[in-house]
Amino acid sequence: MALRLIFLGPPGAGKGTQAKRLAAARSIPHVSTGDILRAEVGAGSELGAKAKEYMGRGELVPDDLVVAMVARRLAQPDCGNGYLLDGFPRTMGQATALEARLAEHGETIGQVLYFSAPDDVLIKRLSGRRVCPDCNANYHLETMPPRNDGVCDKCGGKLIQREDDMPETVRNRLKVYRAQTRELIGHYGATGSAQAGLLTEIDSTGTVGEIADAVARSLEN
Ligand code: AP5
Repeated sequence: MALRLIFLGPPGAGKGTQAKRLAAARSIPHVSTGDILRAEVGAGSELGAKAKEYMGRGELVPDDLVVAMVARRLAQPDCGNGYLLDGFPRTMGQATALEARLAEHGETIGQVLYFSAPDDVLIKRLSGRRVCPDCNANYHLETMPPRNDGVCDKCGGKLIQREDDMPETVRNRLKVYRAQTRELIGHYGATGSAQAGLLTEIDSTGTVGEIADAVARSLEN
């Protein structure tokens, strides 16, 4: 059966780290809207040019752009047998658009995993994050350092700090998360909508291995 999952949570909770592992283990595509948008910015596309200013400020890219981008991605053949959505939906408008698309195709979401962590943990993770712009691998200066300073273990690329991981932008991203994304916890949670009951909270304060175990347990249930 096709496995369709949503990873939800604040910036820095570790969604991307876990999503990469799980998607590889389950052989389903990891559909990260952040990664796709950064690739569009890097390629200098029309979408990238529009998205860049929002991302630089730590704000959400408008729903119409993101929904159309995700629809294009989910129409690719590799998504036919499931996918892991990382960082989408992030607004009620995006959730409604996704639900309409699923209904149109007679599909459902299997689970929504909500990665929770307090702000001090999130800020520490984001401020120490380093990423490889060539292969998207991610590292942390303290908890997951590369073998050689500033160099990607996987492809030898030069690691950088994401522009939106600067302190002021991080503060705004957390504010935007509370204002626009947090309500999805209720939407997918115990009460509320037709999507109710899909949500499982994963305490994301532990190590990468501990969180991966919690994710695996939640999928077994
Ligand atoms: P996006 O790239 O999706 O950013 P985000 O959701 O803010 O999430 P992050 O990537 O910052 O964090 P994460 O939870 O994936 O953590 P990670 O695993 O990297 O989006 C960027 C921007 O794009 C948005 O601000 C917006 O402008 C735009 N955008 C994207 N999607 C959109 C949408 N749907 N609608 C509108 N706009 C959209 O881990 C963080 C760090 O912690 C890493 O260094 C990692 O090594 C480390 N770490 C991870 N797990 C652990 C652990 N257990 N212990 C210790 N360290 C850990």
